[in-house]
Amino acid sequence: MLTKVFGSAVFGVEATTITVEVNVDKGIGYHLVGLPDNAIKESNYRIAAALQNNGYKIPGKKLTINMAPADLRKEGSAYDLTLALGILTASEQIKSEHLEAYIIMGELSLDGSLQPIKGALPIAIKAKKEGYKGFILPKENAREAAIVSGLEVYGIENIKEVIDFFDKGTSLEQTVIDTRAEFYKTLDFPEFDFSDVKGQESIKRCMEIAAAGGHNIILIGPPGAGKTMLAKRLPSILPPMTLHEALETTKIHSVVGKIKNMGLMNQRPFRSPHHTISDVALVGGGAYPQPGEISLSHNGVLFLDELPEFKRGVLEVMRQPLEDREVTISRARFTVTYPSSFMLVASMNPSPGGYFNDPDAPVTSSPAEMQRYLSKISGPLLDRIDIHIEVTPVPFEKLSEERKGEGSVEIRKRVTAAREIQTKRFEEMENVHYNAQMNTKHIRKYCKMDDASKELLKNAMERLNLSARAYDRILKVARTIADLDKSENVNGIHIGEAIQYRSLDREGWLG
Ligand SMILES: Nc1ncnc2c1ncn2[C@@H]1O[C@H](COP(=O)(O)OP(=O)(O)O)[C@@H](O)[C@H]1O
Ligand SMILES: [Mg+2]
Repeated sequence: MLTKVFGSAVFGVEATTITVEVNVDKGIGYHLVGLPDNAIKESNYRIAAALQNNGYKIPGKKLTINMAPADLRKEGSAYDLTLALGILTASEQIKSEHLEAYIIMGELSLDGSLQPIKGALPIAIKAKKEGYKGFILPKENAREAAIVSGLEVYGIENIKEVIDFFDKGTSLEQTVIDTRAEFYKTLDFPEFDFSDVKGQESIKRCMEIAAAGGHNIILIGPPGAGKTMLAKRLPSILPPMTLHEALETTKIHSVVGKIKNMGLMNQRPFRSPHHTISDVALVGGGAYPQPGEISLSHNGVLFLDELPEFKRGVLEVMRQPLEDREVTISRARFTVTYPSSFMLVASMNPSPGGYFNDPDAPVTSSPAEMQRYLSKISGPLLDRIDIHIEVTPVPFEKLSEERKGEGSVEIRKRVTAAREIQTKRFEEMENVHYNAQMNTKHIRKYCKMDDASKELLKNAMERLNLSARAYDRILKVARTIADLDKSENVNGIHIGEAIQYRSLDREGWLG
């Protein structure tokens, strides 16, 4: 007998339905065709054991399995359950009625229990679009798939449950979540809140400006100054994620199988890869491409702690995606694109030893060591960082007496208001949504200064020996400060503040 079962393959962040045809005929053999990879070819061993341990078997006949479309490469072990049900129905060990109404996926253990799959969310989106009645998958992925409304989602723990569902009509427990209600319920309760940070008012102000204009930022300070603590709290003051953004971000996390037992993400991601990370892990790639850290940070924050410790090549490969806000990976047969629109927050010690110009420093570095250390971050990447700020630690004895700071939700209100001004400003433009994205032409148009401000900027450039590249960056940041101030024009006060945020352009640092 010939039966059909449906599975799904994920490319980039989109799924394609895969039809699995199973034919059982007289004779002997097991033929699997249609570009399966090794993990799928080995599936018959897992399936055989799983069936046997539940009272069924792979029939001793000629089995032909075809996975279509044939030109699409199918990978991984998530088709075990699909194939197993095809074999059971084609060999008439169980009934096949209703089988074609479902997408069925899951990796089998030898006892028939199910292991989670990757990409449940994009698969569910596609299943709904193509009119499938339901999606049967491992329990750990059920909430993730149930984000999609109008699709029956059944999370199961063992193959026996699905067998009985089709053969005996027993019911499966449906996972239903009210995606919208859950999404909005905890939107205003960030995991890390700025109210935990004592003192540091000027740094918090700086983070607020960065968030308001979408400016990449670098925090410079000795160990223990609170850089990591501050960076972690940046997502909490960015405007709340929209449902659309949340879906985009959750899809990417789903593709790498990181959603387990969760529904829609409603906090912006904060990713903090270690400095030993490879370029593939950072930007994505591999033989079967997977998204990297920059895509897992999509709509959130990528924190590169100890920036000068990262390999130069790794930082190089990040340049293009930073510019394009997406990353494209090409293979012989296909090309995939992952979104990667994130805010970059970097941190560094002022010197390899951790201290700079500090007479009490426990370690000092020679000028040559300093030069080598700083040269690693100069150039193209630094060019994309608008705000540099020095973080000095709050003295230990003061930490206890400083009062609790302003909370993230309050700060976020001001950030959101400033973002709304920018959304209006760039309404007509396709690729510019906030101030950090302005090019030189936009800057000339939207950051007009009066004569006094021009003079101030000119003097500061000369006095502080600021580089030419600092000029545009100061103007962009000044534009954001003016937006926070609800000021139509960029004036001297805004310029004056923005000038302070160029530490690394000054003499003594990068020269
Ligand atoms: N301003 C602050 N308010 C409250 N705690 C702080 C502050 N600064 C530092 N800390 C404490 O010191 C610890 C070390 O800070 P951390 O962010 O790891 O420093 P860094 O990344 O600069 O080395 C934090 O976990 C936090 O408990
Ligand atoms: Mg740190």
